[in-house]
Amino acid sequence: MWVLGIDTSCDDTGVGIVRDGQVVSNQVASQTLLHQAFGGVVPELASREHTQVIDGLLQRALEQAGIGLQDIELIAATRGPGLIGALMVGLTYAKGLAYALGKPFVAVHHLEGHIYAAALQEPEVAPPFLALIASGGHTHLFLVPSWGKYRLLGATMDDAAGEAFDKVARLLGLGYPGGPELEILARDGDANKVPFAVPLKDQAGYDFSFSGMKTAAARFIQKGHAPADVAAGFQKAAVEHLAGVVARAARDHEVATLLVSGGVAQNGLLRERLSGHSLRVCFPPKGLSTDNGAMIALAAFRRSGEKGESLAVTAQAYLPLESVN
Ligand code: KG4
Ligand code: ZN
Repeated sequence: MWVLGIDTSCDDTGVGIVRDGQVVSNQVASQTLLHQAFGGVVPELASREHTQVIDGLLQRALEQAGIGLQDIELIAATRGPGLIGALMVGLTYAKGLAYALGKPFVAVHHLEGHIYAAALQEPEVAPPFLALIASGGHTHLFLVPSWGKYRLLGATMDDAAGEAFDKVARLLGLGYPGGPELEILARDGDANKVPFAVPLKDQAGYDFSFSGMKTAAARFIQKGHAPADVAAGFQKAAVEHLAGVVARAARDHEVATLLVSGGVAQNGLLRERLSGHSLRVCFPPKGLSTDNGAMIALAAFRRSGEKGESLAVTAQAYLPLESVN
């Protein structure tokens, strides 16, 4: 079964092709350079860029898969959450294709795509499990009692984890996106020299908070701490925060498996720290942590099989995962 998946929720255009649950092609056009000068994503520019590149990406994805458009048996696209104009480009494009080709269509929740990407390499993984999604826009912890059911345990109360990495990186004079650069700088630093407090340490619940760490970083930089030490101290506390909440949730809910996805899942210290617990931890393969179309095709394939949905579905900027399915 050939499934086409499209994601245009933010600043990456993703077109992926999946065959029987395996990724055959995953074309992503990043808009990082386009938005870099503005220090963040400019929604209207993002939408326009998606319309410019989506056709070419589909052609490349088909070529890489060695198939033609007619061979696609199911078409899927992200319906939300995300930037409304950006979402509309991919969703409308996919619906148009489905209508013109007479193929079934499935609308997918963006976070559901991230969760399925983390399960890809371990096909025998089954609920119940925890799903941590930590990206530039999201920091959510879900309990997944069965496929397609999602219970939100906690989320960030302010900045997303990746956003915090980006903001602190910016304070340190690093480029955007800052997460990977901060991780590299942190290797030269001493994580114990700068006393970052781990947020919400003694609070009940499973929420996250990163904005205080950003303010602390600004203060430490002002005080003259070495940039590498600030990077290392921040990274250590941020990872401790994420891992601590996850470990507590796993204990409280007696869950032994954790799926981690989103850009921050690429962080080496986070991977190391999470894997140190008694949890079985699954990460997405390289290239599938960040936004992409293949994860949307995977979710559509796993969730709906071959059946399509109505083309009447519209894009939703705000769309809690617990509210769908
Ligand atoms: O999933 P993603 O590509 O989607 C968006 O949110 O658009 O996540 C990007 C985020 C950025 O904030 C980036 O700084 C962060 O993930 N990130 C990292 C690392 N690699 C990417 N954060 C920490 N360590 C990393 N190695
Ligand atoms: Zn994402």
